[in-house]
Amino acid sequence: MNIKKICCIGAGYVGGPTMAVIAQKCPLINVTVVDINTDRIAAWNSNDLSKLPVYEPDLDSIIKEARGRNLFFSTEVDNAIDAADMIFISVNTPTKTYGKGKGLAADLKYIELCARQIARVSRQDKIVVEKSTLPVRTASAIKSILDNTGNGVQFQILSNPEFLAEGTAVKDLLEPDRVLIGGDSTKEGKGAIQSLVDIYANWVPKDRILTTNVWSSELSKLTANAFLAQRVSSINAMSVICEKTGADINEVSKAIGMDSRIGPKFLESSVGFGGSCFQKDILNLVYIAKSYGLNEVADYWEQVILMNDYQKNRFSDNIVSTLYNTVSGKKITFLGWAFKKDTNDTRESAAIQVADNLLNERAYIEVYDPKVTEERIYADLEHLNSRNPEENRELLKIRQNPYQASENSHAIAVLTEWDEFKTFDWQKIYDNMKKPAFIFDGRGILDTKTLEKIGFICYQIGSGTKA
Ligand code: UDX
Ligand code: ADP
Repeated sequence: MNIKKICCIGAGYVGGPTMAVIAQKCPLINVTVVDINTDRIAAWNSNDLSKLPVYEPDLDSIIKEARGRNLFFSTEVDNAIDAADMIFISVNTPTKTYGKGKGLAADLKYIELCARQIARVSRQDKIVVEKSTLPVRTASAIKSILDNTGNGVQFQILSNPEFLAEGTAVKDLLEPDRVLIGGDSTKEGKGAIQSLVDIYANWVPKDRILTTNVWSSELSKLTANAFLAQRVSSINAMSVICEKTGADINEVSKAIGMDSRIGPKFLESSVGFGGSCFQKDILNLVYIAKSYGLNEVADYWEQVILMNDYQKNRFSDNIVSTLYNTVSGKKITFLGWAFKKDTNDTRESAAIQVADNLLNERAYIEVYDPKVTEERIYADLEHLNSRNPEENRELLKIRQNPYQASENSHAIAVLTEWDEFKTFDWQKIYDNMKKPAFIFDGRGILDTKTLEKIGFICYQIGSGTKA
């Protein structure tokens, strides 16, 4: 099928940037991104490109080029579905918070709603592409809903997992390591796969476009994220040993990363991984393993999460014990709230857990993050349900610059690795803090030697601790 019109359901961190790049690279294809969230769509349509709902380096220039030409953002979901030859499902699949599989399995209710909507509206044959992270065999559930509730229309289901990482989404989309497309091996299935291959082939070299069966494609996505998260938990496990023994995690990382069998990426010790995918996908994997009675496999992967929880909690424990075993009424400055640099996304950010632990100890926190909004930070805390919203607003404030956020503060905690933190006027920050002035660098980005010369007492994740 020669694709002329694409509809993407879900204008989030995946749908928005992915469709922007497809539209930029395929000017002859009309791409409409729809969402039920009217505020989000309004923000995507905003003339002020700094107001786009997703912050990603270079995304604004792509939106500027393609929006209004062949890229559209709309809330008219039914019309866009009806008009499209190919529909991407890119809605959220959070971990279930209720019922069977609670806390482990992915909640597929948004996916199912989409499938039913597609079935109801469609009047001609369509290719449906699952883009969200989904448990293995979701494609067959979508197919069953479409085939049994549709208007006799033929659907082909493809799995096309997204491998973009936030903060580098545009680069990852423009120069992907690989594009993975899973589909049926029937004649129709192969035709559908080819239609999607042809779209990516507009800018991705052919040898980087892999085709597999649907289940391999779905499982590859979970496997990739589990492996990446496992590397972070592995290096974080070593960071604890380094701190006890006087070894330095950066030196260890460098030494092992030069082994070409290991490689240098994803070896940065941190206060813990976050993001919408790692935890969710591993929990999903654990759920799948358990549902097949594979308890050893489930335990193996679950340990990656337990290690990550440990890393977050020991970071806040260390702050409390260093500040003479009490942070009650003390001001602690958070530098960073996003789960990594160059994104305004905060889902599962380590900062949330660390803040919650310190607020439970009655600390007073002031946060500076260059991209995360005040509403987002309070929403993250409310989601935990640890305190009532008024209390959170009293105990935690958001500041527009680091100098204000650190005035009269007892300690600074670095939770995100934003580049700008390295170039702050640290002498000015030190002068306005309570003494002794502590820094807890949970990202290993600051030059502690220089900071110690100023007078700070420094703790850096994974290195011989002074604090
Ligand atoms: C991840 C996958 O990388 C991507 O392929 C998939 O499509 C979605 O999930 P993302 O969550 O956006 O992407 O970010 P990623 O760069 O993978 O980082 C995840 C977390 O691990 C962040 O909190 C990051 O700070 C942390 N991390 C990463 C480390 O702590 N150390 C590292 O060495 C690398
Ligand atoms: P991701 O990181 O996977 O892109 P997001 O939460 O950023 O996740 O985006 C998912 C988007 O999908 C949200 O904006 C949400 O409003 C939208 N969405 C969820 N269900 C539907 C639906 N049935 N129709 C249209 N949009 C939907």
